[in-house]
Amino acid sequence: MALMDKHKVKRQRLDRICEGIRPPILNGPMHPRPLVALLDGRDCTVEMPILKDVATVAFCDAQSTQEIHEKVLNEAVAALLYHTITLSRDDLDKFKGLRVIVRIGSGFDNVDIKAAAELGIAVCNVPAASVEETADTAMCLILNLYRRVTWMHQALREGTRASSVEQIREVAGGAARIRGETLGIIGLGRIGQAVALRAKAFGYGVIFYDPYLPDGVERSLGLQRMATLQDLLIHSDCVSLHCSLNEHNHHLINDFTIKQMRQGAFLVNTARGGLVDEKALAQALKEGRIRGAALDVHETEPFSFSQGPLKDAPNLICTPHTSWYSEQASIEAREEAAREVRRAITGRIPDTLKNCVNKEYLMAASQWPSMEATTVHSELNGAAAYRFPPGLIGVAAGGLPGAGAGVEGIVAGSLPLAHSIAPVSHPPHTPSPGQPSKAEADRDIPSDQ
Ligand SMILES: NC(=O)c1ccc[n+]([C@@H]2O[C@H](COP(=O)([O-])OP(=O)(O)OC[C@H]3O[C@@H](n4cnc5c(N)ncnc54)[C@H](O)[C@@H]3O)[C@@H](O)[C@H]2O)c1
Repeated sequence: MALMDKHKVKRQRLDRICEGIRPPILNGPMHPRPLVALLDGRDCTVEMPILKDVATVAFCDAQSTQEIHEKVLNEAVAALLYHTITLSRDDLDKFKGLRVIVRIGSGFDNVDIKAAAELGIAVCNVPAASVEETADTAMCLILNLYRRVTWMHQALREGTRASSVEQIREVAGGAARIRGETLGIIGLGRIGQAVALRAKAFGYGVIFYDPYLPDGVERSLGLQRMATLQDLLIHSDCVSLHCSLNEHNHHLINDFTIKQMRQGAFLVNTARGGLVDEKALAQALKEGRIRGAALDVHETEPFSFSQGPLKDAPNLICTPHTSWYSEQASIEAREEAAREVRRAITGRIPDTLKNCVNKEYLMAASQWPSMEATTVHSELNGAAAYRFPPGLIGVAAGGLPGAGAGVEGIVAGSLPLAHSIAPVSHPPHTPSPGQPSKAEADRDIPSDQ
């Protein structure tokens, strides 16, 4: 084949790749002023100082992609999100220029990371920020089940007096000694390990089940490893969940596995609601097969005591998915997420990203390393110049500032609010099926993890 023809074939092949996936971000800024969107929040005051010289930051305050303005769907190159919005394959398809998604927190089960990779979108998380907070909360819930502090507080609030030993017995009934008890940890990752260290100090014997960890972890940490989930359930007085939610472990705790637990064991979940079949748990609590449960995460969030299978379950402590939260952890997570976006904009995806969770899928789905700069579609690689002003903009689904619809803009450093986003041509996209919106009441809760 003549040299010219060879070049043509190679170019056609690479063009086909480019149609299917998004090309790499080459070194240096990808656009004069790329758009970064915070999808499910509106406070960007922490992110702004880190990003303002390289990007325009928009907030969407959305709970589904249906609420995200078309301009963001078409033009955002980076998205920041908490856990209160889900990005399925169909949702991801709606974004036309997206190259990187950063979860402000550690869990990324609300993003289809495989689909993202197939679309050429890197997904990152912030794994470190809330490890201590979540472990401390888990420990607090475990101790509460044993020492019944929450229930005693409630009894006092309701007017119960404990002036005799008999009354004390009544109020504190069920409070148990910790020494000699076995805590079973499912998922010995960052948080699971932090819980194990804490629990040992309180006198628990700690066992764990985590089939994905290499041999020897148990020796480094001085813990007992269980070969199967069943072994862990049989040997635990209290089971605490710390695994990530994935396609293999939905309803890991269900009617069948609850029956493998010790009679009268405790269950704690600060990981993900989808790990527990709440209907089965409610039944087990009512029958006393599980003596008490403490849940920070739920199958449906925001959680309400008045709805769902757990509504009349006894011996249950619930918190509203707040284990991760402390002011410091929240700020650290947001700063680190913004820095990751910055690395994406100023560096090369995925090479310069620190916590890319779909790197393997990305590399498998693309021929990125071998792609040449000249073969990258100009439209996707910077030729479509953005005309966003520096600063922060709010982009609501109803419209844009200057376009007449109600949009509130927040501008850092008292920059003017009003601006208009110039239309940019993009490839057509398939509309996604609708997603249910969460209750309005949830929207003000600062969320992460
Ligand atoms: N409630 C909150 O506010 C909050 C805050 C932070 C993290 N989280 C959740 O806590 C969990 C742990 O977070 P992390 O940062 O420690 O994650 P991690 O990735 O460090 O650890 C998760 C561990 O779970 C293991 N695992 C996966 N599937 C398993 C299974 N079926 N059985 C046993 N082990 C399994 C993995 O091998 C890994 O070691 C995640 O679900 C995360 O989303 C919740």
